[in-house]
Amino acid sequence: MSVFSNNFLWGGAVAANQCEGAFKEGGKGLSGSDMCTGGSHTKSKRITRTIEEGTFYPSHEAIDFYHRYKEDIALLAEMGFKVFRFSIAWTRIFPTGQEDLPNEDGLVFYDNVINECLKYNIEPLVTISHYEMPFALTEKYNGWASRECIELYVKYTKVLFKRYKGKVKYWLTFNEINAGTLPFGAFLSLGILNKDTKEFMRQVDEPQLRFQALHHQFVASALAVAAGHEIDPSCKIGCMIAYMTFYPYTCNPDDVLLAQRKRDIQNNLCGDVQVFGEYPYFAKRYFEENNINIHMEPEDLEILKNGCVDYYTFSYYMSICASADPGQAQTSGNLTGGVKNPYVPASDWGWQIDPLGLRYTLNEIYGRYRIPLMIVENGLGAYDKIEEDKTIQDDYRIDYLREHIVQMGEAIKDGVDLIAYTPWGCIDLVSASTGEMAKRYGFIYVEKYDDGTGDLSRKKKKSFNWYKKVIESDGECLD
Ligand code: BG6
Repeated sequence: MSVFSNNFLWGGAVAANQCEGAFKEGGKGLSGSDMCTGGSHTKSKRITRTIEEGTFYPSHEAIDFYHRYKEDIALLAEMGFKVFRFSIAWTRIFPTGQEDLPNEDGLVFYDNVINECLKYNIEPLVTISHYEMPFALTEKYNGWASRECIELYVKYTKVLFKRYKGKVKYWLTFNEINAGTLPFGAFLSLGILNKDTKEFMRQVDEPQLRFQALHHQFVASALAVAAGHEIDPSCKIGCMIAYMTFYPYTCNPDDVLLAQRKRDIQNNLCGDVQVFGEYPYFAKRYFEENNINIHMEPEDLEILKNGCVDYYTFSYYMSICASADPGQAQTSGNLTGGVKNPYVPASDWGWQIDPLGLRYTLNEIYGRYRIPLMIVENGLGAYDKIEEDKTIQDDYRIDYLREHIVQMGEAIKDGVDLIAYTPWGCIDLVSASTGEMAKRYGFIYVEKYDDGTGDLSRKKKKSFNWYKKVIESDGECLD
């Protein structure tokens, strides 16, 4: 018998700004991601204040999911998906974030996507805000740095909870909310754009502003959770953390303590606020030592307490080491780089491949929170090649996923309550960090390239049939 129960939610994940395209259709407004040009592993994307004529912006067409969602969801259904994680673009519903009434065309698009999922008995798992916000809010308020965004976001979430009541059971308030603990997340996650910032990878950082903005997101998330529960008491609302698994590079106590501090600030600070409804004990010292002084309104602490999430979701791609010795070799990773681990291999983008780290991470998280967990992103970003016979032999991806699923099973045996697995980019899409198409995660190949060319046709990779068997067998058959 499989260690995965037969109601385990197998599926995959995408985000609106990385797959929909149609950036101006159906009344959509410009979002932060629409202002990012293409880039690569070695060349940063630029953030432009206006759309430049003749410049390539990968999100503008992306993989054209907006027009091809039926074909795409049919392919996901063919793999046997039980759940599909996608996000709603705030700018399709409120083009500048500030309108009084929602844009009906935008809602109709998501009615269609959701109905298409339900037609195949696929549970929609909806991220309300995934690395985009109306660019108008960046221009007017410097994004989440302003408290004004709380009300605007809550208004937006209420529209969604009412519209999709009874259809969408699982919601996530913010994708990887803890990105805001890092300079990298300033524009991506918080919509903050310093006037001197030109490049995505080199943002001018103001920690005070970032943590204030993060506090606003916490309050907004908690209010949304409370509103969602009131509107649809049967729905479940979760947090989403980019889990950064840190190992001490050596058993030198300095390394051990550093790894613990990083884990606490970068992962647990956000998890604790969203699960326990309060800032953790260690936040105070961190804020003091970094001259961060968060302004709170008198009602904020109560709001946080009344908006605790029902389940915890996270992304896991890699692990990283922490060393007190600044001379150690570094490598990159999701949101944060760090010290290289000599015991694990890395992807072509330098993200270290560590399946055992997933079991470790699942136990770390469950041990702390004791609520159901979902892995809502995991996968290998890799270069894929179309062979002469037109097949795509992505055995490296199968190996990566297989090893991670094995460790999920081990964690379940350990006693972790893991209820879902949605590997990232189940269909190839635009990379969030680099803007590339070449960094592919999918079971489904999309003919679209980094220069914007390609006929957008879809092809099943070898991993497509492999994952189909995994789902069919409830995770038993991993060959
Ligand atoms: C996560 C994001 O950080 O990682 C996704 O939630 C992103 O939006 C994914 O695409 C993979 O990262 P990248 O940079 O390879 O696209």
